[in-house]
Amino acid sequence: MTTAARYVDFARREAHSESPVYARLCTAIAADEQLLALLESVPEPRRQPNLLLGVVRLLGGPVDDPAAFHDFAVAHWPAVAAQLLARATQTNEAGRCALLLPVLATLPQPLALLEVGASAGLGLYPDRYRYRYGDHELGTGAGPVLECALTGTPPPARLPRVVWRAGLDLHPLDVTDPADVAWLDALIWPEHRHRRDRLRAAAAVAAADPPALHRGDLADDLPRLAAQAPAGATLVVFHASVLYQVPAERRARFTDLVRALPGHWIAVESPDVIRYEGLPAPPDGTQHNVLALDGRPLAWTRPHGQAMTWFA
Ligand SMILES: C[S@@+](CC[C@H](N)C(=O)[O-])C[C@H]1O[C@@H](n2cnc3c(N)ncnc32)[C@H](O)[C@@H]1O
Repeated sequence: MTTAARYVDFARREAHSESPVYARLCTAIAADEQLLALLESVPEPRRQPNLLLGVVRLLGGPVDDPAAFHDFAVAHWPAVAAQLLARATQTNEAGRCALLLPVLATLPQPLALLEVGASAGLGLYPDRYRYRYGDHELGTGAGPVLECALTGTPPPARLPRVVWRAGLDLHPLDVTDPADVAWLDALIWPEHRHRRDRLRAAAAVAAADPPALHRGDLADDLPRLAAQAPAGATLVVFHASVLYQVPAERRARFTDLVRALPGHWIAVESPDVIRYEGLPAPPDGTQHNVLALDGRPLAWTRPHGQAMTWFA
């Protein structure tokens, strides 16, 4: 796919329903010969729309006016290119904990949580956030309220008890470093103000007790980290929106490894990257992932944790 086609595809398939600002901008970038030529000076994986848009926002550039975006990106290209090479797309969405909670609450407690592709580790605090499933509320404290429209199963009755938490990521981010939090903020699409507020609130929860995040690869380094989980707790290895970034043969190696570990495995991934037999049709035409426990698909989920539909 050419770089121009990639931006058109992103505008039509990803941004169209969620971000009119990004849809308009990416359509303009696809026709911007000067910007396309600059983008082609960086390696192909570094030309992705989410990365460029996040980098320009990180550097303080405008995204709501394509002409102003062009002028900023061209004028600041050395800084833009340096960030394209240094940064990766690694949105950290605490809202996905609302998808994990119905499963975590059913497992033998206490839990030892190991998140692969943890980013800044905001997914490691499902016991410290508050939740609203319709009119059912759970949790107390100052953390963000994670709202999830849940259908097909009762909402969880309790929070999990977590005695150990660890994360693994190729590029772990530090919630106590303002520059890393600024990068997470820049990755959130312009119209998603509620997600920006949620990021700040979840980052404050994590920064008060920073997670143990390990730099490493999910296939190469998982067994060593899993072996550190304390005896007497149920090991839960989980990941959300990670495997689309992992080449197919590495994904297969990872899933073989995780199945062989003691404990449980929770995946929240696109059905294009973990395939399941006989899935029901998704609730509507919007993007959905599949929540699965130990390889068994349980529910359709919306990407940021805003809704889940349990299979009958
Ligand atoms: C889109 S982010 C999702 C982060 C987090 N799971 C969440 O739900 O917010 C994907 C994360 O996976 C990490 N990642 C990608 N490939 C990886 C690999 N082979 N091993 C470990 N982490 C990886 C990226 O660095 C990034 O932080």
